[in-house]
Amino acid sequence: MKSSSTTTITNFIHSFFILWFLIIFLAGQNLQIHAAGGGGQWVLLQKSIGITAMHMQLLNNDRVVIFDRTDFGESNITLPDGKCRNDTFELVVKNDCTAHSVEYDVVSNSVRPLMVQTDVWCSSGVVAPDGHLIQTGGFNDGERVVRTFQPCGNCDWVERGLGLVNRRWYATNHILPDGRAIVIGGRRQFNYEFIPNPLPQNLHFLFHCYAKQMIQMRRTISTLLFTLMWMETCLFTRTINNIVVRSYPPMPGGHPRNYPSTGSSVILPLNLGQPSLEAEILICGGAPRGSFAQVGAKKYIRGLDSCGRIKITDNSPSWIMETMPFARVMGDMILLPNGHVLIINGVGAGTAGWEDGRNPVLNPVLYRPNTPFGSRFEIQKPSTIPRVYHSTAILLRDGRILVGGSNPHIYYNFTGVLYPTELRLEAFSPTYLDSLSSNIRPRIISPPPKVRLTYGQRSIVRFSIPGAALVEIGISVTMVAPSFTTHSFAMNQRLLVLSRGKTTVVAGNPSTYQVLVTMPNSANLAPPGYYLLFVNHQDIPSEGMWVRIQ
Ligand SMILES: *[C@@H]1O[C@H](CO)[C@@H](O)[C@H](O)[C@H]1NC(C)=O
Ligand SMILES: *[C@@H]1O[C@H](CO)[C@@H](O)[C@H](O)[C@H]1NC(C)=O
Ligand SMILES: *[C@@H]1O[C@H](CO)[C@@H](O)[C@H](O)[C@H]1NC(C)=O
Repeated sequence: MKSSSTTTITNFIHSFFILWFLIIFLAGQNLQIHAAGGGGQWVLLQKSIGITAMHMQLLNNDRVVIFDRTDFGESNITLPDGKCRNDTFELVVKNDCTAHSVEYDVVSNSVRPLMVQTDVWCSSGVVAPDGHLIQTGGFNDGERVVRTFQPCGNCDWVERGLGLVNRRWYATNHILPDGRAIVIGGRRQFNYEFIPNPLPQNLHFLFHCYAKQMIQMRRTISTLLFTLMWMETCLFTRTINNIVVRSYPPMPGGHPRNYPSTGSSVILPLNLGQPSLEAEILICGGAPRGSFAQVGAKKYIRGLDSCGRIKITDNSPSWIMETMPFARVMGDMILLPNGHVLIINGVGAGTAGWEDGRNPVLNPVLYRPNTPFGSRFEIQKPSTIPRVYHSTAILLRDGRILVGGSNPHIYYNFTGVLYPTELRLEAFSPTYLDSLSSNIRPRIISPPPKVRLTYGQRSIVRFSIPGAALVEIGISVTMVAPSFTTHSFAMNQRLLVLSRGKTTVVAGNPSTYQVLVTMPNSANLAPPGYYLLFVNHQDIPSEGMWVRIQ
């Protein structure tokens, strides 16, 4: 079976009507969960990027597009050149001279304000095959807008008016094998559409496989979409008349994993070296059934510490349940270059939504999918900054995880609240970046950056390992699609382990090696676009190399 992946979180019952209320500082409410010790390092990159990092996407120039929303007051960064946004439809500040989007340059560790014209709150995005960001929807005057952002030196947002057929607030995007983006769902939208393709008839109704009012996470496998809807899961294909081709058993426990009981999910690494492709999904955390009703009464129930793992390519798939070291609501799950999963951000009690989370979980947790059951989780070193509702995390090319955002308030509230609006940007370096590993860390020599590769192409990857001898079975070559992350969900995230030959020493140079790898043989496995190629040696990844597959 061929495969590709996507995920998302859509939110149906937003706590929009609850709005903000006075916070009572009860003893114990401010508890933060962290275990001392653990691997990895935290670095504070920026004391303020001026906005809260609610949505993040890395582009192929090693810059990250970040945005929050236009309708919650003035941010802490002004627009350049005296520019202001004069928007008569705006709900809060009609003439706003502050920015609600920035570009973060990873290499120079600097921030540049960008100008969005309409509201991008809780929206979705995806990177097109040529490398530009397509962002869709939002709220109010932005709910049907399509915006694009080119990865160039000084580019800014370009807005294309009403590019969507339906309003898309909390939708999910994914790139398809034909290079188009599918835009799925959104609040009260049980349908999907495509970009580019603005024709009204290009609207499909898809949610046959459940009748509940909540939608959660979706994944694509080939042109098949794997959808977890509240507690039910189904797989459907749009190529055969939108039919549901498979249904999966509900996850044991009967708890919701979607907003406001927000958990997170990934498709585990897809190993293309196997004779037949297997695809597994891992869903972790969330809040027990009934939690959201309780936060109204200021009762913050402990979150879920369980993960469910299911091999969706099995003939009769079933869930395997595992227990995390911490309960976690609103975690992010990020695939690392070596195929491990980092579970980061979130809280230990309460739910997603305004003012509803408690007990921030400061320790990330590593999950190693291939180690024996019972020994897969490892606690990492804690941050000092709570990352609650509206926080994000993404993988960078150098293997660090960029962490930003957190804002459980309807405005920028820096004081007088339990978890202030968070403008700080941090990076978490997993233990694989420790200098202790530098003598076994590979460095890619070729292919050169941004090389174009075709499907099924056999390509030599050349790399050096400075110190110790190479351990042949410790080598893997992986390709990662950088995600659009928001609301604990990394859209379009995928990691492919490439099929490879034996590693050989390059003649005359004992620390330089080469290995023949085969690119994914179809767009179903890897939709066209930019990926980060990594060589891993004993779980220590090289820096990534941007490659373009088409
Ligand atoms: C806002 O930015 C200024 C510098 O421009 C900084 O001193 C201040 O701490 C920032 N506020 C917050 C809440 O980060
Ligand atoms: C904003 O736009 C409105 C409507 O176009 C106009 O009447 C108003 O003068 C503008 N305000 C500023 C400060 O530019
Ligand atoms: C946040 O700030 C706004 C505007 O300053 C204020 O109206 C609101 O009450 C504050 N929210 C909380 C939860 O304190």
